[in-house]
Amino acid sequence: MQDLIQQLESLVQGVPYRIANLANASALLYTSFDRLNWAGFYLMEEGKLVLGPFQGKPACIVIPVGKGVCGTAVQEDAVQCVPDVHLFPGHIACDSASRSELVIPIHQGGQVIGVLDLDSPEMERFSAEDQVMMESFVRVLEYEVFGRTMAEQ
Ligand code: SME
Repeated sequence: MQDLIQQLESLVQGVPYRIANLANASALLYTSFDRLNWAGFYLMEEGKLVLGPFQGKPACIVIPVGKGVCGTAVQEDAVQCVPDVHLFPGHIACDSASRSELVIPIHQGGQVIGVLDLDSPEMERFSAEDQVMMESFVRVLEYEVFGRTMAEQ
C-alpha cells in the first residue's frame, strides 16, 4: 500500500493544475481501494464545504461546517473514522448504500481548506491502517497540490 503513496506522488508531482490533481487522486483511490462507493473531495469556499472532484454517484453540493461527517471533520480539525454511519448523528446520506466513512481534513497554511471523503457500502470498512495511509495520502496532497500559492495553481 506504500505503493499507493508512490503512485500519487508520480501522478501529481510537478503538475500545476489543482482540479486535475484532485480528479486523478480520487480516481486512484476509487480504483485502488476495494469496497468503496464514493471517493473524493470537498473544498472550503466562503465558509462552507463545496463538492470537488470525486468518483461515485452524484453527491450533495454544499455541506455547512459542523454538519455531517465532513463538516464535523472541519469543525474539529480531526479525522473522522465512522464504522456505522447510521449511528453518526447528522450523517448526510448522499448515497443510501453508504455504511461506513473515513474523512481526513486537508490543510493549507495551518487552516483546514477541505476534506478527503471515502465512503463504503460495508460496515467497519476502514481499518486503523487505512486511516494512517489516508493521512499520509493527504499529507502528499497538502505538500504537492496545496503547498503552492493560488497564483501558481
Ligand atoms: N456522508 C457525508 C456527505 C458526503 S457524501 O458521503 C459524498 C457527510 O455526512 O458529511
